[in-house]
Amino acid sequence: MSPTTLEVTARALVAPGKGILAADESHATIARRFEAHGIANSEENRRRYRQMLFTTKGIGEFISGVILFDETIRQAADDGRPFVEVLTRAGILPGIKVDRGAKALAGAPGEQVTEGLDGLRERLAEYGKLGARFAKWRAVIAIGEDGRTPTPRGIEANAEALARYAALCQEAAIVPIVEPEVLLDGGHSIERCLEVTEATLHAVFHALSAQHVTLEGLLLKPSMVLPGATAQHRAPVAEVAEATVRCLRRTVPAAVPGIVFLSGGQSDELATAHLDAMNRLPGPQPWPLSFSYARALQAAPLKAWGGDPARVADAQRAFLHRARCNSAARAGAYTPELERSAA
Ligand code: 13P
Repeated sequence: MSPTTLEVTARALVAPGKGILAADESHATIARRFEAHGIANSEENRRRYRQMLFTTKGIGEFISGVILFDETIRQAADDGRPFVEVLTRAGILPGIKVDRGAKALAGAPGEQVTEGLDGLRERLAEYGKLGARFAKWRAVIAIGEDGRTPTPRGIEANAEALARYAALCQEAAIVPIVEPEVLLDGGHSIERCLEVTEATLHAVFHALSAQHVTLEGLLLKPSMVLPGATAQHRAPVAEVAEATVRCLRRTVPAAVPGIVFLSGGQSDELATAHLDAMNRLPGPQPWPLSFSYARALQAAPLKAWGGDPARVADAQRAFLHRARCNSAARAGAYTPELERSAA
């Protein structure tokens, strides 16, 4: 049986040495990122910022795909070329965020469900015409301090939406990235994160099966198994790597062509170190372990850029460096020397 278009695209996104740049921040999210550096959140600044990222020379060696926001997939570079063309020329697949954000789940205090299914078939058809080859939908699962949340109902509502989104994507020949993010917020232990992530992934793969989604034609974008941001006990890198891979081996079928982690508020270097440590574990694992980072790839270039056209080259150097380090982490070959080589 020859591979389908979906399988070919999914595998290309996790080709050796490559991972995904998530650059699909909503207006509200990019506003927060820009504000931290005193950058005005105008359409033109958003375009100039994304242009800086997408036109970085050599980035196609490390980045297989870029997730765009609705505004960005319609924008063009200074020379008039649409961003989709700029990326495609660099050997990078354009993707699109299609969810409409997490909203309060009715009657479930502290829990959210992601919206955006209404009209999704029509939106996917348009994004396909604009050049999108893959898509993203993010579900958020918060771990409550009292041990009561997430509830099975909260987990199931999110899993169901993810699966219905994935089925619509595959119908449109667009690879769905299925992103159930267990949030870092809170003081929970790494053991509690493992328990919640395991329950979430079980529910997600059950729902994908119920919706007849083809596992070979999707990618999973999970959070890593970590103690909460304010937890007393910090876990060493090796423990995070071991717990994360243990959780995935228990829950993710081998038919899935790849796993691309989100960074979720970890520092740049820690997100790289965790990925590297996972890829150093005795293997092989059933699937490639790669990245689909937003903050852990963008924090350094955003800071270096600061909205100043004169600092584009510095920002691009910072971006290329983080992409190179994460590419090395895919092979368990990230070292302190490589990290320092940017200086
Ligand atoms: P972070 O890597 O900043 O968590 O973002 C990844 C992403 O795409 C969230 O949906």
